[in-house]
Amino acid sequence: PTPGLCLGIESSCDETAAAVVGADRRILSSIIFDQTLLHADFGGVVPEIAARAHAERVDICVAQALSRAGVTLDDIDLISVTAGPGLIGGVLSGVMCARAISAARGIPHLGVNHLAGHALTPRLTDGIAFPYLMLLVSGGHCQFLAVDGPRAFRRLGGTIDDAPGEAFDKTAKLLGLGYPGGPLVEKEAAQGDPARFDFPRPLLDRPGCDMSFSGLKTALRRARDLIVAEKGGLTRQDRADLCAGFQAAVAEVLAEKTARALAEFGRPGGVLAVAGGVAANTAIRTALTGVCDRAGARFLAPPLALCTDNAAMIAWAGLEQWADGARPDAAMVARPRWPL
Ligand code: KG4
Ligand code: ZN
Repeated sequence: PTPGLCLGIESSCDETAAAVVGADRRILSSIIFDQTLLHADFGGVVPEIAARAHAERVDICVAQALSRAGVTLDDIDLISVTAGPGLIGGVLSGVMCARAISAARGIPHLGVNHLAGHALTPRLTDGIAFPYLMLLVSGGHCQFLAVDGPRAFRRLGGTIDDAPGEAFDKTAKLLGLGYPGGPLVEKEAAQGDPARFDFPRPLLDRPGCDMSFSGLKTALRRARDLIVAEKGGLTRQDRADLCAGFQAAVAEVLAEKTARALAEFGRPGGVLAVAGGVAANTAIRTALTGVCDRAGARFLAPPLALCTDNAAMIAWAGLEQWADGARPDAAMVARPRWPL
C-alpha cells in the first residue's frame, strides 16, 4: 500500500526537528528545536554540544510532532530520517530514534539524504514537476543540482571550499557582530557602500559552475586590519561598508554562476528553486530574480521555514522516494559524508 502519512526526523546540524506530512502534500505538523542559543557564544555550531542536545530532545520532538498533528504512531505509515550528511553525533540520534520506533511498532523506515530533503522541497510547497534546477545555499552547503526525479540528482557545480553562510558567519565574527552572522551582516550592509571595497569575485574567470568563498573572507580580514592599523579601530560606517562589499561579492558570484547553471541545465522556461538559510538574503534574492528574468526562468523560493533545516522536507523526501521504489535498508547507517 502507498504510505499516506510519514513521520520525518531531522538532526544533522543544529536543529532537532520532527514533522508529520501527508502524501497529499499536507504538513500536519513541523516541530523545530533551534539550538542557536546553545552555540552563540562560540560563533558556530559545536559538534559535542549539538550531539548532546539532539540526544536529549529528539524523542520530545517526535512526541510533539505527533500530538500537534493530532495523530498517534498507529496512524503513521512510514518513518523517514536524515541518515546524513551532517554532524555524526546528531545524525545518530535521529537514526537510533527512527530505528527504535520502527522496530517497536513495525513501521517501515527510510534513511534519506539531507540534501535530497532540501532538493525536493519545491515539490512539497509548490507541487512543481521534474526536472528543475536547485540552488542550495546554507551554512554548510552550496551547490547546483539538476533534480530529475526523487532519487535522480545531477550536481552541476558547487563551492570548492566554504559555503556562503559560513562566509557570512565568519564575516560577522571578524567584525564582532554576533551569531548567526547572515542576518546581522545583511542589516549592516543595508547602511553601507558596496563600492568602497573591491573584494574579489573568485572563479568567475573560470568556466563552469564551481564557486569559492574562502578568499573573500581573507580579503575582508585584510581590509579590516588595514583600517585598524591606520585609524586604530573600525567606525560604524567602516563596518557597514565592509559588509556591503562582502555581500555584493557573494551575490554577484552566486548570480553569475546561476546564469551559467541555467544555461547548462538548458531548459528555457524552467524553474530555479532555492533552499538554505542564505536564500533569506534580500540582496541575493534580488540578484537571482534578475538572472532568472533574463534567462526566462521562473524563480521559486519556498517559505523560509521550509528553506532552512526542518523535518517536513525529510518526511516528504521519504514519501517521494518510497513512491519511487526505495525500500528499508536493514543496514541503514548514519553517514557523516554522503554526496547525492
Ligand atoms: O539552512 P540553514 O538554516 O542551516 C544550514 O546551514 O543547514 O542556514 C544557516 C546559514 C547561516 O550560516 C546563516 O548565517 C545564513 O544561513 N543566513 C544568512 C541569512 N540568514 C541566514 N546569510 C545571509 N543573509 C541572511 N539574511
Ligand atoms: Zn540543511
